[in-house]
Amino acid sequence: MTKTNNVYIETYGCQMNVADSELVLGILKNKGFSVTETADNADVILLNTCSIRDNAEQRIHGRLGNLKKIKEKKPSTVIGVLGCMAERLRISLIEEKKMVDLVVGPDEYRRIPEFIDQAFSGEKGIGVKLSRTETYDDIIPYREEGLSAWISVMRGCDKFCTFCVVPFTRGRERSRNFDSIIDEIKILSERGFREVTLLGQNVNSYNDNGRDFADLLAASAAVDRKIRVRFTTSHPQDLSDKLLYTIAENPNLCNYIHLPVQSGSDRILKLMNRTYTIEHYLNLIDKARKIIPGVSFSTDIIAGFPTETYEDHLTTLDVMQKVKYDGAYMFKYSAREGTKAYKMGDDVSEEAKTKRLNEIIDLQQSISFEVNQTLLNTEEVVLVEGNSKKSDEFLAGRTDSNKVVIFPKNEKVKVGDYVKVRINKATSATLFADFLSIEIPYEKDIAKTA
Ligand code: 5AD
Ligand code: SF4
Repeated sequence: MTKTNNVYIETYGCQMNVADSELVLGILKNKGFSVTETADNADVILLNTCSIRDNAEQRIHGRLGNLKKIKEKKPSTVIGVLGCMAERLRISLIEEKKMVDLVVGPDEYRRIPEFIDQAFSGEKGIGVKLSRTETYDDIIPYREEGLSAWISVMRGCDKFCTFCVVPFTRGRERSRNFDSIIDEIKILSERGFREVTLLGQNVNSYNDNGRDFADLLAASAAVDRKIRVRFTTSHPQDLSDKLLYTIAENPNLCNYIHLPVQSGSDRILKLMNRTYTIEHYLNLIDKARKIIPGVSFSTDIIAGFPTETYEDHLTTLDVMQKVKYDGAYMFKYSAREGTKAYKMGDDVSEEAKTKRLNEIIDLQQSISFEVNQTLLNTEEVVLVEGNSKKSDEFLAGRTDSNKVVIFPKNEKVKVGDYVKVRINKATSATLFADFLSIEIPYEKDIAKTA
């Protein structure tokens, strides 16, 4: 019998990469590889990498330094770099890091088994062509048992925000086949999954032969009403009324929209090529709140984009105050070679970026605290995910709006149940609650569709 090879994969960056790692493992399992959880006993070590900011890349350079030691101990170990950094740095990764055997970008994952074979016989492999059509529709991703799954419904991005490397590392936008996505959700439903998140750089431009993202969400939600459906990311220019009504009409479509604003200044938004104004953005938030009562928002914000003044920065704080986001991902601007913004110069000093970012983080923390206080004494339906991180005597789960809730353990409650709780305490990051009852969620709707 030939020996099966063990593969270990480590994932950096966004959820898109998490989904891609599952695809890669799906491809390798089909070729007879087995999956291992540690680098030490692996025959093949793959890093699925991120290039979005310089610090993401620096972390991976550091990790490659550690892996060098494993390779020295066991020189037959194959080491591969996948993902955005592979696409961006290409052959230079192999030239500079001698222990790297393969470099494979996001559209060439089907070739990984072939590259690994070559690497076992001492050859280096590189596959970094981008494709206009590859969507890996026929690949069944390898997924551990669990409650939540990430499903990528489109690849690439055509928006060309001037700060972003993604259009260069992940190529042109393309949508996956509608029916293959629905089939994937059916399989997850049969396996007992309770939550799926549909992923794309800009899901609102999803289109498969005239079926748009709202159609996809409605069909996804109808597969199994016990499954919560989430999605990310929406671009403020493309969020349609149809989509908002679809969320409002389907109880298991979560009332939560990640809508990156990036900056509060129209001048900066223009330089970023974001193609909307703050007026448009705020109107959209108002409209969504009318159509979907109680909807939550999160955002992405960049501090210190080229030419940003302190006054521009204050407009960002102002928008945060107006919207009162439930959560925010907040970053210092990082100049990325090859992007349009790179040519604008990186003229905001590191100190100013740090100061502005800290102000943004502090403000968001106080807003999150304030928003969470309004939930005191309200009832929430929580999907139970497991023990609380801090104590085995408590369970943790999430609300529809993606907030973590901690409540005392109860014999009747299992992981994967939906429970009704009453919130009794709230910090900026966590809600604490009393258990009320086990819920059959979306019951009315199940009756309607049965
Ligand atoms: N510098 C800082 N943040 C960035 N993002 C994307 N590119 C950069 C960059 N060059 C942020 C944006 C985006 C999120 C995924 O990452 O806010 O929405
Ligand atoms: Fe994801 Fe963007 Fe990072 Fe690539 S560069 S892994 S698309 S966040």
